[in-house]
Amino acid sequence: MIKKIEAFIREEALDAVKEALQSIGIVGMNVYEVRGHGRQGGIELSWRGTSYNMDLLPKMQVNVVLSDHNVEKAVEAITNAARTGKEGDGLIFIYPVDNVIRIRTGERGREALMYPDDIDIRREEKPGK
Ligand SMILES: Nc1ncnc2c1ncn2[C@@H]1O[C@H](COP(=O)(O)OP(=O)(O)OP(=O)(O)O)[C@@H](O)[C@H]1O
Ligand SMILES: [Mg+2]
Repeated sequence: MIKKIEAFIREEALDAVKEALQSIGIVGMNVYEVRGHGRQGGIELSWRGTSYNMDLLPKMQVNVVLSDHNVEKAVEAITNAARTGKEGDGLIFIYPVDNVIRIRTGERGREALMYPDDIDIRREEKPGK
């Protein structure tokens, strides 16, 4: 099974999240600048006695497509790298993916997600570990 992770994180957390994913062997990813809000609906700002609500705050979205046995590892890596413990740390969504096709080779599915230093390859080279 192939899954897609969409993580909405703080802008300041992007480098740490990227490094955490790379350190567990996840290389392919997309990063987007987005604006959004969660349960608090943004923040209240005040300027010279007037207060107004900034309802859409800048966030980063990190998308990763991976085999499902790597999902928990990736979620743990993202969570540890992105958590401050304060409101606004973000959310992670996980979706099923029908298929993946590497255009250059025509590889499909799990194979299309592998690369020389991939966690799946490391696992196959060290059976029993
Ligand atoms: N239900 C949602 N659907 C899609 N995106 C969301 C949703 N909730 C949050 N997001 C995205 O995640 C970002 C951060 O959300 P946030 O961390 O404030 O979530 P929260 O549920 O309010 O949690 P917390 O109480 O920790 O703040 C939002 O700016 C938005 O981009
Ligand atoms: Mg919130």
